[in-house]
Amino acid sequence: MFLLWLMVLVVSLISNSKSDTLCLNNPIIICHCQSGTGSVTCVQSQASNDTSIDWLTFSSPEYESYIFDFINITRLTPDTFTNFRSRFSSLNSLQFRFTNGVDEIAENTFQMLSNYSETHISLTFNSPGNFQLADHAFGQSKYHQILIVDGQQQQTYQLNLKAFERANISGLSIVNCNNIQLIQNEPLSLTIQEVEIKKSSLTNVDLLIQSLSNSLTKLDLSSNKLVHVPSLAKFTGLTDIDLHENLIEEIHANTFINLTRLLRLNLSYNQMKRISHEAFAELHLTILTLNDNHLTSLETVTIHNEKKSFLNPLNQSLTTLVLSNNLLHDFDPIRNLTHLNTLQLCCNQIRGLYEDSFQNAHQLEIIDLSSNHIGSIHPLTFKATKVKHLDLSSNPFSSLETTKIVYDEDFKRKNQTNSFLEHITSTLTNLLLKNCTNLLEINWFLFKHTDILYNLDLSGTPKTDKFWLYQPRNYNDSAVQGQMRQFMVTVMGINFTNNDYCLFKPVFQVLNHTILLLDNDHPCNCFVFMMRNILQMRVPPICLSNQSIIDELSQECMNIDASCAFPTSSTTMSSTLSLSSTSFTTMDSTIPITTIITTIPMTTTIPTTIPTTTTSPTTIPTTTTSPATTTTTSMTATTTKVTTTTKTEESTTSVALTTIVTTLGAAPKDDGKWKTILAIMIPLTVIIVVLSSAGIYIVQKRKKNRSKEAIELRGGLTNIFANK
Ligand SMILES: *[C@@H]1O[C@H](CO)[C@@H](O)[C@H](O)[C@H]1NC(C)=O
Ligand SMILES: *[C@@H]1O[C@H](CO)[C@@H](O)[C@H](O)[C@H]1NC(C)=O
Ligand SMILES: *[C@@H]1O[C@H](CO)[C@@H](O)[C@H](O)[C@H]1NC(C)=O
Ligand SMILES: *[C@@H]1O[C@H](CO)[C@@H](O)[C@H](O)[C@H]1NC(C)=O
Ligand SMILES: *[C@@H]1O[C@H](CO)[C@@H](O)[C@H](O)[C@H]1NC(C)=O
Ligand SMILES: *[C@@H]1O[C@H](CO)[C@@H](O)[C@H](O)[C@H]1NC(C)=O
Ligand SMILES: *[C@@H]1O[C@H](CO)[C@@H](O)[C@H](O)[C@H]1NC(C)=O
Ligand SMILES: *[C@@H]1O[C@H](CO)[C@@H](O)[C@H](O)[C@H]1NC(C)=O
Ligand SMILES: *[C@@H]1O[C@H](CO)[C@@H](O)[C@H](O)[C@H]1NC(C)=O
Ligand SMILES: *[C@@H]1O[C@H](CO)[C@@H](O)[C@H](O)[C@H]1NC(C)=O
Ligand SMILES: *[C@@H]1O[C@H](CO)[C@@H](O)[C@H](O)[C@H]1NC(C)=O
Ligand SMILES: *[C@@H]1O[C@H](CO)[C@@H](O)[C@H](O)[C@H]1NC(C)=O
Repeated sequence: MFLLWLMVLVVSLISNSKSDTLCLNNPIIICHCQSGTGSVTCVQSQASNDTSIDWLTFSSPEYESYIFDFINITRLTPDTFTNFRSRFSSLNSLQFRFTNGVDEIAENTFQMLSNYSETHISLTFNSPGNFQLADHAFGQSKYHQILIVDGQQQQTYQLNLKAFERANISGLSIVNCNNIQLIQNEPLSLTIQEVEIKKSSLTNVDLLIQSLSNSLTKLDLSSNKLVHVPSLAKFTGLTDIDLHENLIEEIHANTFINLTRLLRLNLSYNQMKRISHEAFAELHLTILTLNDNHLTSLETVTIHNEKKSFLNPLNQSLTTLVLSNNLLHDFDPIRNLTHLNTLQLCCNQIRGLYEDSFQNAHQLEIIDLSSNHIGSIHPLTFKATKVKHLDLSSNPFSSLETTKIVYDEDFKRKNQTNSFLEHITSTLTNLLLKNCTNLLEINWFLFKHTDILYNLDLSGTPKTDKFWLYQPRNYNDSAVQGQMRQFMVTVMGINFTNNDYCLFKPVFQVLNHTILLLDNDHPCNCFVFMMRNILQMRVPPICLSNQSIIDELSQECMNIDASCAFPTSSTTMSSTLSLSSTSFTTMDSTIPITTIITTIPMTTTIPTTIPTTTTSPTTIPTTTTSPATTTTTSMTATTTKVTTTTKTEESTTSVALTTIVTTLGAAPKDDGKWKTILAIMIPLTVIIVVLSSAGIYIVQKRKKNRSKEAIELRGGLTNIFANK
C-alpha cells in the first residue's frame, strides 16, 4: 500500500518536473508545448532557406487559445504555416510572438489567418532583424493587434506599408524602432483603427497619413521628432490624438478641421509657442493637454486687433485642461470654460488671482496653481466654482486672508479682513499649501468653518509667531459650523518647539479630531510628546519609544503645560515646579486636570475658584457642568482618587501622560478649565516657594471641608526634596 503511494508520488513528481513536452520536431524548428496550456515555444534549429513546416505533425491536445513563441526565426513564408488551419480548426485566440532576428516576411505569409474570422489574433515582433516585408505579407486577415517593438538601433527600418494592405487591423503599434522609415510605392488605403508609432524618430509621417483610410479612431505619434501636426482632416472618426514629446512649435488655424468627434488631444512636451484662436474651431474636445510647452499667452491677436483665445470654441465641452510648465502670466480665457472640471496650471508665472478669474467656471473642482508667483488671492476668486482640491503650494502669498479698508456709516476707517476660503467651505476637501515660504500667518479660525476639509498640507511653510494664529472674524456668509470631521494636517519639514504646545492650545478647538503628520526625525520635545495622541508618524521618533526620555519629557512637559497658562511668569513657574517630582501614584487612569497639582508632595488645603466637593481625604471629586465620561480625551471625569506618596512607581509616568493629554482634550469653549489651572497654580506656587525656601518638614493630615472649596492632598515632603 505504502509502496503504491510512493510510486504515485514519484510519478507525479516526474510529470510535474517534465511539464514541457516536445510537440513538433522539424529540420527547421523544434517546438515544446507546456502541458495543460496552449503555450508553445518554437526555436529555429538552424539557419536555412527552407521554411516549410507541416503543422499536421504537431502533437498536442486541442486548446481554444494558443500562444506561439517563435525564437530566432529569420524567414517567414506561406509555407511556414502549411496545414496550420487544418491542424487548429477553431480558436478563440491566437498569438504569435516572434523574438529576435526576423529578416523577411514573404507575400501572403499570414494569409492562412484570414480563415479565422472570429479569432482574436495578435502578432508581436520583438527585436526584428532587417524586417523586410513583402507586399501583402499580412494577407487579408483580421488582427486585433500587430506590435513591432525594439528594432535594432543601428539600422534604419524601411517599413513597407503595402504589407498591411488588405488586412484589417484594430491596433498597429510600432514602439522604439529607432530611425523607422515608411515606404510605399503607390497610394494605399490601410484599414487600421488605432495607430501608434512611438519613440521611433518617425519623420515621414505624411506618408503614413496618406496611406491610412478614414477608419482611424486613435492616433498616437508621441515621442518622435515631428515639427508640425500632419493634416488629419480626412479622419473624421478620430477621437484621440496624442502628439506628446515632439518638436511642434505652433498650431495653425484649422489644423484639426473636420475632427468633430475628437475628444482628447495631447500636445504636451512640445515647443509650442503659439496656438491660433481658430485652431480648435468646431471641435468638442473634453481633454486638452498642453503641459511643458513654451506658451506665454492663451490668446492671440486677430487681424481686427482683438484678443481671442483658442479656448473659446471649447467653452461648452472642455472638462480637463492641462497647462502646467508653460510661461503664462494670466489665464483670463479660462473663466469662460463653463464645463471645466480639472485645471492644471502648475509652474507658470501667474501673479495674482482675481475676483473674476473663474467667473463662469461653475464646474471647476480640481485646481492646481502650485509653483506660480501668486502674491494675492482675492476673497471671491473661487466663489463661482465648486473646488474640492486646491493646490496653492510654492506661491509667495503671505496670508490666507486679505484686509481692505472700508468706511462705516460714520465714515470711520475700518479694516475688513476676508479670505478666499470663506466661499468654498462646503466643497473644499484638499488644500495644499506646501512650501509657501512667505506664508507668515495662518489664521486657524478659517478652518473652523471648512466643513469637509480633510487634508491640509502645510509642509515646508515657515514657522512664524503667527503660525498658530486664532483670530475670529466676522465673515459675511460663513457657514454654520459643521460636524467635527476627520482632519489631517501635514506639517513635514517644520520643527516645532516646546513653545508650540502653548501656542497651539487656542487652535485646539479647530484641530479636535486631527491627525498631524510630522517628519519621522522630528526632534522629541514637549510638542511631540504632548500631542502624540493626535500625531501620526509613520515611524515615530525613537525618543518616544525610549522610556527614560519619556520620563524626562513627562516631567518637563507637565510643567510646560502648566506654565502655558502664565505666559508672563512661565520661567519662574517651571523652575519652581521642577522641584516637584513625579512621585505619586493613582488608582485611576483618568485624572481631571487638577491632578497635575498632585505632584506637590504635601498635604494642604488649596482654595480654588471652582466649586469642588471633598468626600474623603483621598478623593477629589471635581464637579463640572459636563456629563461625566471616562475617556482620556475628556476632562469631565469627576471622581478621581489621588494618593500622594513618596514612592516612585512605574505607573507614575503613564498617569502623568494621561493627565496631560486630558488637559489637551479640554473643551476649549470651557475657558474655565484653563482658569482652573491658573487658580490652583498660583496659590501652589506661593506655597512651594515658601516651603522650599524654608525647608520645613511637614507631615500633616488634615481634613477640611470648607464650603465645597477644598482640594486635599496627603504625602510626605521630605523624601521628595531628598531625591532631588
Ligand atoms: C539561401 O539562398 C540564398 C540565395 O537565394 C543563398 O545565397 C544562401 O546561401 C542560402 N542560404 C542557406 C543557408 O542555404
Ligand atoms: C538565438 O540566437 C542567438 C544568436 O543569434 C543565440 O545567442 C541564442 O541562444 C538563440 N536563442 C535560442 C533560444 O536558441
Ligand atoms: C480558408 O478560406 C478560403 C476562402 O476565404 C477558402 O477557400 C479555404 O478553403 C479556407 N480554408 C480552410 C482550411 O478553411
Ligand atoms: C474591420 O474590422 C472591423 C471590426 O473589427 C469592422 O467593423 C470593419 O468593418 C472592418 N473593416 C473592413 C474594411 O473590413
Ligand atoms: C471637411 O469636411 C467637409 C464636408 O464634410 C469637406 O467638404 C471638406 O473638404 C473637409 N475639409 C478638409 C480640409 O478635408
Ligand atoms: C496624453 O494624453 C493621452 C490622452 O489624453 C494620455 O493617455 C496620455 O497619458 C497623455 N500623455 C502624457 C505624457 O501626458
Ligand atoms: C468670455 O465670454 C464672454 C461672452 O462670451 C466674452 O465677452 C469675453 O470676452 C470672454 N472672456 C474672455 C477672457 O475670453
Ligand atoms: C461659449 O461660446 C458660445 C458660442 O461659442 C457663446 O455663445 C457663449 O456665450 C460662450 N460662453 C461663455 C461663458 O463664454
Ligand atoms: C520651494 O519654493 C521655492 C520658491 O518659492 C523653490 O525655490 C524651492 O525649490 C521649493 N522647494 C520645494 C521642495 O518645492
Ligand atoms: C488696519 O490695518 C493696518 C495694517 O494692516 C493697521 O496698521 C491699522 O492699525 C489697522 N486699523 C484698524 C482700525 O484696525
Ligand atoms: C529640524 O530638526 C532637525 C533635527 O534637529 C534638523 O536636522 C532639521 O534641519 C530641522 N529642520 C528645520 C526646518 O529647521
Ligand atoms: C471635540 O470632540 C469631542 C468629541 O466629539 C466633542 O465632544 C467636543 O465638543 C469637541 N471639542 C470642540 C472644541 O469642538
